[in-house]
Amino acid sequence: LLQNKKINAISMHLIPRTTLAQKMDALSSQSNIAGYKAVLMGACHIEKYMPLLMTAAGTIPPAKVLVLGAGVAGLQAIATAKRLGAQVEASDVRPEVKEQVESLGGKYLEVKSEDSGSGEGGYAKETSDDYKKKQQELLADHMSKADIVVTTALIPGRPAPILIPEDMVKGMQPGAVIMDLASENGGNCVLTEPGEVITKHGVTIDGTTNISGTVAVHATELYSKNVNALITHIYNKEDLTLDLEDEITTGSMYLHNGEIVDDRTKEAIG
Ligand code: NAI
Repeated sequence: LLQNKKINAISMHLIPRTTLAQKMDALSSQSNIAGYKAVLMGACHIEKYMPLLMTAAGTIPPAKVLVLGAGVAGLQAIATAKRLGAQVEASDVRPEVKEQVESLGGKYLEVKSEDSGSGEGGYAKETSDDYKKKQQELLADHMSKADIVVTTALIPGRPAPILIPEDMVKGMQPGAVIMDLASENGGNCVLTEPGEVITKHGVTIDGTTNISGTVAVHATELYSKNVNALITHIYNKEDLTLDLEDEITTGSMYLHNGEIVDDRTKEAIG
């Protein structure tokens, strides 16, 4: 219909991840919320304290939180878990995030492999079989000690990578929890059921979708600011003409006069 009516169509998810476009970036504003809330939800699932506590009745060690995928959601999850007093570890396929993880007080788990998962535009790409094998070996040990595992790993235009096979879940402590933020894209854990909270092998696997929607007041406030910033940017002239030289206008557009101008849309429609 949009094509027939020769409409210009834009999508929030296509906005370039550039400094100038940051205030319009809804993927970031919503992921940030999801990363924060996932840790709070995880903390409620485990029947433990998060911080180290020294009481007259004994010393409680801090909870261990492992974050897989240290993008926008993952970094906020690290920061939130640290604020609650947990011990935090994180891993990603993009080695450049090491510094960001460490600056938030997390320990970076590095996969020692010749190749990495750094793709175009600061996003991840599918990793090699050798990388996947080394990543699984590294993670298995840390997963077995974790109380909360928050997974956020996504690859643009592809199903979420499986980072947690069933054997790894079996190796986890009873009562531990996996908060799978990638559940909408299939999940990072092979057992995740999108939209459901299940228990398998004594481990809670939370596949709740649209977690940012549970922080509705601020999710809406920030999203409306994103939309307002985009519209104000695109229509900054009185005559409402589009500036087709502008990176944000063209980057977020998937139909121009009804013609598909975005590769991902072309691929999806076929
Ligand atoms: P995302 O939601 O696409 O993916 C989340 C994280 O999962 C990424 O860090 C990715 O590297 C990781 N990942 C993918 N496959 C994995 C695997 N197999 N194992 C472990 N981790 C895996 O990413 P997000 O959060 O949207 O961020 C994408 C990039 O955009 C980042 O570099 C971020 O810093 C950048 N960005 C830049 C902005 C800017 O204004 N300059 C604004 C927002 C994001």
